Amino acid sequence: MIMRASDEHWLPDGTVLRNEPLSSHTTFGIGGPADWFVRAETVRDVSAALVFAREQGVPLFILGGGSNVLFSDAGYRGVVLTLAGELARIDFDGVRVTAGAGALLPRVGLLAGKRGLSGLEFASGIPGQVGGAVVINAGTRDAWIGPLIDRIRLCNRDGEAYQMARDEAGFRYRGSDLGGEIVLGVELVLSEARPEEVRVKSQSYRRARTETQPVGTRNAGCVFKNPQPLSAGKLIDELGLKGFRVGDAMISPVHANFVINLGQATAEDVRRVMAEMKRRVRESYGVELEPEVVLVGVDAP
Ligand code: EPU
Repeated sequence: MIMRASDEHWLPDGTVLRNEPLSSHTTFGIGGPADWFVRAETVRDVSAALVFAREQGVPLFILGGGSNVLFSDAGYRGVVLTLAGELARIDFDGVRVTAGAGALLPRVGLLAGKRGLSGLEFASGIPGQVGGAVVINAGTRDAWIGPLIDRIRLCNRDGEAYQMARDEAGFRYRGSDLGGEIVLGVELVLSEARPEEVRVKSQSYRRARTETQPVGTRNAGCVFKNPQPLSAGKLIDELGLKGFRVGDAMISPVHANFVINLGQATAEDVRRVMAEMKRRVRESYGVELEPEVVLVGVDAP
């Protein structure tokens, strides 16, 4: 289907899908159909999708790697936009890396490491794209992407590209002021190191992840932010909730801040599991857990 999105630009054949199951685009494997699913390869495609959504009078949601999101079982009544092609390019210039929002973050880290550039080792094994990682300031307990960023390229809702310096983005633990913005890409500044050092460091991050997290299962990473300085996983574990299950959604026996989809879990199953985690932690510790996973059309747990 060829979609006319504006007088100036048509989205090419194959980039627009109707009633696309979002379960195919999320690591949770959960989510009903999106009315429209657009794969944008250029800034012009992005602006065409924005114009189209406006013409249809529907909302537009930007989906990154789908690794930190829970869509409702009803799906999305609007346009879900993903970035690829030109918007997933990775270019190097000395210690500067220009990465499109659609590029896979661990791939940027891997290519950087091979060139003797250090800084992204923590991203080894994080299954997300650059854009999503920037918006949620993705990282580990002690390292995240924000400090590596020099400039961010964005696009406003009128389809016009603009730039922002790191300091304007409001980076904080697992958050920024960029929610709802369309990130097109970033310029990162890394530091020089020996490729072997970077490789070893990346490997140790990957190993730690494999040993402490349910790698290889269908999940969306940690479902709650850590109530600093505490660890949500530790609190939930201490309450004996590992293995707690609603339908096919279960608290991972490996890491208590992960909910895993055993096969046919619905968004509602996951929401109910999260509600139980939140309720028990509130009652026992007086701590209010805040979701880390982005909920789309799903009620707050
Ligand atoms: N712990 C338990 N039981 C559990 C889980 C953890 O006792 O079921 C204990 C651990 O033994 C450790 C402490 O809790 O003493 C902290 O655990 P961990 O090192 O696994 O770190 P975390 O705080 O649970 C954070 C990030 C992860 C990131 C890891 C590794 C958040 C919400 N989580 O987890 O990020 O991978 O550090 O650095 O900030 C994500 O963002 O999706 C995510 C998984």
